[in-house]
Amino acid sequence: SSHMGNDLENVLFTEEQIHQRLDELAQDIGRDYEGKDVLLVGVLKGAILVMADLMRALPGSVPMDWMAVSSYGSGTKSSGVVRILKDLDTDITNKHVLIVEDIIDSGLTLSWIRSNLESRSPASVEICTLLRKPEAAKVEIDCKYVGFEIPNAFVVGYGLDFDEKYRNLRDIGTLAPHVYS
Ligand code: PRP
Ligand code: MN
Ligand code: MG
Repeated sequence: SSHMGNDLENVLFTEEQIHQRLDELAQDIGRDYEGKDVLLVGVLKGAILVMADLMRALPGSVPMDWMAVSSYGSGTKSSGVVRILKDLDTDITNKHVLIVEDIIDSGLTLSWIRSNLESRSPASVEICTLLRKPEAAKVEIDCKYVGFEIPNAFVVGYGLDFDEKYRNLRDIGTLAPHVYS
């Protein structure tokens, strides 16, 4: 909305740019998984809109499942130790899993989720993220599908929140300083 839009400093990606990029990624994914069954695994809550648009851009019928995780400790993600709040409903043994994320920041969340899923004997595990911040990486993550690489700034919108707000912004942007004060 225009009200929330006032809280943005810069729009980094418009809704149209996001959709166009996800369509491109969906073409790559559709080609790479041709003839294979793939399960999309979204990470709550940030990935909900990436999932919604990516899955509709994919050819054929593609199932999805979700995980919700939380870092141990109060608010800090520095440990990289994660606890599962909601596990998959699906047994992924021998399945091709594609993790769907909104952003890789430090990489600690996805690093943990990927190892956790790999321990369940899937046929394969790959990652699709809309955004990645190379400068913020604390661990290297092999991510096959990346929408956009962005600088190390706090971004909101299109599923990404600041204190649970702004997830429903259609565009992605940086927050204006007055929001913090
Ligand atoms: C955000 C984002 C990623 C993660 C990336 O989720 O959606 O899942 O942080 O950070 P990292 O690479 O440093 O681990 P958050 O924990 O804020 O939960 P949310 O998706 O519910 O907003
Ligand atoms: Mn998240
Ligand atoms: Mg968040």
